[in-house]
Amino acid sequence: MNKILLDRNENNYGPAPACFEVLEKTDKNLFSNYTDAYKRGVKSALSERFATDFDIAEDRIILGYGAEDILKQLVQCYLGPGRKLMIPAYSWWYYKKIADEVGGTNVEYPLIKGDDSFYYDIDSMISLVDTEKPKLVFLSSPNNPTGNSISAKDLDTVLSHMRETIVALDEAYWYDTKHEHAKHLVNTYSNLVLIRTFSKYYALAGIRIGYALIGENFTKLAKIANRYLGFNLISEKIALAALDSPEYYEEIADKMNSDKELYYQELGKIPGFTVYKSDANFVLVEIPAEIKDSLKKFLTDKGLIIKFMNEEVLNSHLRITLGTQEENRMVIDAIKEYSMSK
Ligand SMILES: Cc1ncc(COP(=O)(O)O)c(C=O)c1O
Repeated sequence: MNKILLDRNENNYGPAPACFEVLEKTDKNLFSNYTDAYKRGVKSALSERFATDFDIAEDRIILGYGAEDILKQLVQCYLGPGRKLMIPAYSWWYYKKIADEVGGTNVEYPLIKGDDSFYYDIDSMISLVDTEKPKLVFLSSPNNPTGNSISAKDLDTVLSHMRETIVALDEAYWYDTKHEHAKHLVNTYSNLVLIRTFSKYYALAGIRIGYALIGENFTKLAKIANRYLGFNLISEKIALAALDSPEYYEEIADKMNSDKELYYQELGKIPGFTVYKSDANFVLVEIPAEIKDSLKKFLTDKGLIIKFMNEEVLNSHLRITLGTQEENRMVIDAIKEYSMSK
């Protein structure tokens, strides 16, 4: 039986056809040569492209081996023994591990759980920053696994309050290809690193490219993140092809948005289920704790692999990555079938 993998927030539609064409039409130089971007005074063709798109100096764009790598570089650069990293209480598991890599410690800030959505708790964040004085704060928008974003207004409120702290805004699940929001943030907050990736929206997790726009304070990070012999030229070229295929990705985003509605409406009707509103390519679903093991077996037997959360506070929750429309239909129908059989 073919398994349908919907447990790691990948994008099962796959990348735009133009990404495959890069490999079909490639020549030897792409494999054998280092970059020659330095001749133009830039790090790479991709950072040059972002500098133009975001209208920002090229040295304020950094590239990494996924968003993961940029977070890691940031922590290696600025955290250390005795220093604190503030992270959302419900967050991507790696946030809880990363401080430990450099001997730092975590401080968790709460998220508010509403009826059908999670929210950032701005007041708690601000008072924790005042009392704990973290060196670094991670904000994730949309957040994994809760799916909620922080509103533009709340973001400005917290960032205005945290000017003495280094803030990483992880927008790995950002859907929108407009640039105004990012431009405003990095030009206003010199202590902000805004991180994005090709892994989610662009369905390119395997090429491992993430990027960040950095505020003016990050000269140390910019130096450390620089690679004198360049980055992976093939990955960069594929990423550029993805950026040049907006129609392909907008169509997928539309399908995902309409499938999220199906999840809200159809699973939301099952007694004991809550489907939280999500701005990302997954939905978080709370289920009665007692059905967790049998539902997991039921879905696994059908080859449907979704994430059953095991965290202390989110242990009766499923995080379901949105797949293709056909896959989403199969998951919804299977869960309905299970719940009707009980
Ligand atoms: C919030 C968040 N940031 C970053 C990543 C990893 O991104 P990348 O593949 O670019 O390393 C993930 C992966 O699931 C994630 O959930």
